[in-house]
Amino acid sequence: MAKRIMKPGTMISPLPAVLISCGDMEHSNVFTAAWTGILSSNPPRAYVSIRPERHSYGIISEKKEFVINLASSKMAKALDYCGVKSGRDEDKFLSCSLKKIDSIEVACPTIKQSPLSLECRVFKIVPMGSHDMFMADIVSVSADEHLFDKQGRFELEKSDLISYIHGQYFSQGKLLGNFGWSVRKKKKKNNKSK
Ligand SMILES: Cc1cc2nc3c(=O)[nH]c(=O)nc-3n(C[C@H](O)[C@H](O)[C@H](O)COP(=O)(O)O)c2cc1C
Repeated sequence: MAKRIMKPGTMISPLPAVLISCGDMEHSNVFTAAWTGILSSNPPRAYVSIRPERHSYGIISEKKEFVINLASSKMAKALDYCGVKSGRDEDKFLSCSLKKIDSIEVACPTIKQSPLSLECRVFKIVPMGSHDMFMADIVSVSADEHLFDKQGRFELEKSDLISYIHGQYFSQGKLLGNFGWSVRKKKKKNNKSK
């Protein structure tokens, strides 16, 4: 099949689209980010890349803390809204009815509606061009209790997380396999008649 050559661009997809909360319980802000991800498993580290003109940029630069709140499909409208409106002009927690709850290790609020929140403490800020990359240690993680089954298995897939593909939000599709399934040996069928 023929390929069309496009200009170099930020075309990795799908990406998570998340709500980043910052500040403290009284003076807080929240914005949407797609330029976010994991830096290291051990120690657990994550990043978010932020344009200096964002209201949140000043807050996170000063406080050196933020929370990455994963977004479920139910949060799609709030996710978009927090990505087009600025905390300079309004309280987006109020506008979107996002409920703040105390985090464990950081002063910034965790968003109650989020199925999973990662509390982050910044250890380095690296200018990248249009955005600065805030690299951070993940210092605590909180997940909705109802996402654990009776055996304690964490069923994050049940929270219907949003993915972001080239300007569009999608809910989850069907399961294709589990980690390592492509090389796992099939269990032999027991054909012995009883
Ligand atoms: C889907 C989506 C993803 C976004 N990703 C980022 C991002 O990764 N970094 C960033 O600086 N801005 C990003 N933005 C833009 C900010 O969320 C937006 O400018 C927001 O109004 C900033 O809020 P604030 O001024 O209250 O900090 C994104 C917006 C949307 C809708």
